Amino acid sequence: MKPRIGVLTSGGDCPGLNAVLRGVVLAAEKLGWEVVGFKDGFEGLLPPGHYMILDRARTDGIMSLGGTIIGTTNKGHFIAKIGAGQRAVVAAEVIEQARSVLAQLQVKALIIVGGDGSMTTALQLQAGGIDCIGVPKTIDNDLEATAMTFGFDSAVAAVADALDRLHTTATSHKRIMVLEVMGRHAGWIALHGGIAGGADAILIPEIPFDYEKLTDFIKRREAAGNLSSMVVVAEGATPKDGQQVLHQTEAGEYRFGGIGDVVAHELAARTGKETRCCVLGHLQRGGAPTTLDRILGTRFGVKAVQLINEGHFGSMVSYQNYQVQHVPIADAVNRLRLVQPSSQMVETARDVEISFGD
Ligand code: F6P
Repeated sequence: MKPRIGVLTSGGDCPGLNAVLRGVVLAAEKLGWEVVGFKDGFEGLLPPGHYMILDRARTDGIMSLGGTIIGTTNKGHFIAKIGAGQRAVVAAEVIEQARSVLAQLQVKALIIVGGDGSMTTALQLQAGGIDCIGVPKTIDNDLEATAMTFGFDSAVAAVADALDRLHTTATSHKRIMVLEVMGRHAGWIALHGGIAGGADAILIPEIPFDYEKLTDFIKRREAAGNLSSMVVVAEGATPKDGQQVLHQTEAGEYRFGGIGDVVAHELAARTGKETRCCVLGHLQRGGAPTTLDRILGTRFGVKAVQLINEGHFGSMVSYQNYQVQHVPIADAVNRLRLVQPSSQMVETARDVEISFGD
């Protein structure tokens, strides 16, 4: 039997996951290894093991598909993070069950493609005797340990496309259009998407905004002859002295969403202008990955196989200085990369007359 490695995708899906899977398979086959794809995140590791063999034929043509062909979940028995940063411990018997399934299937190491929560689980599996390699994934692009994650560029492209569409209707009706986008703690999607789509104002969690300043800005635009305005709001944006708009689900999970409507309502009342809100939601997470995400996903998948071959267990693939490298997973978890209000990107946005409402 050929040496076997496993791979699973965990947490929210994002464009580029299938490129990672294809990269893993092609790099593994080159080494004469077989790849076992566990279904629906870590849950596929539970007895009797829910998996499919991933080979060249099964992964042919999947790179351009969004989502993940092996499924994913952000729920279940392996959750290591709940709510806002709270940690949970994966039960020892669950880790033992996973270890024995992997042993029975003769899978010698596991590639875990996921975000911060999944990497926290990976650390616990590694401590429980399962050799793991992490591949970072989040459309939010907010992991400190890697300069970029695949999925982000596709999300930004979706925001820019939405703004292009909103622009024509906003100008026709001389309205304010508010676009709510993802980004609970970090405003990267709003910032990059807003710049690319020609937004007039961008509200992000890192820069608390002031309704009066935002209103004055829109009124000044109006006085200068700009009768419509486009405002991008990250779901985690917060008004000065205000609260983030989120609610806790019965399972204890914090779900964001709703700030766009609040901002639209306030702006309508304060400016007297017709204002509409559009929530982009999961449209920015689905669909075909951009070329950049296909390439990054492929590079990450290939690197993960190399890391197994070199025995760098407990490491996570990381993109730094245009190179795909690796860092200890332990150093990567729980460290968010946020937009710095004094960064060049924010300054550039201000230079093209974008307001942050501050
Ligand atoms: O972390 C990725 C992300 O897309 C966030 O930006 C968003 O708040 C969240 O996932 C949505 O999660 P779900 O698909 O569970 O609603």
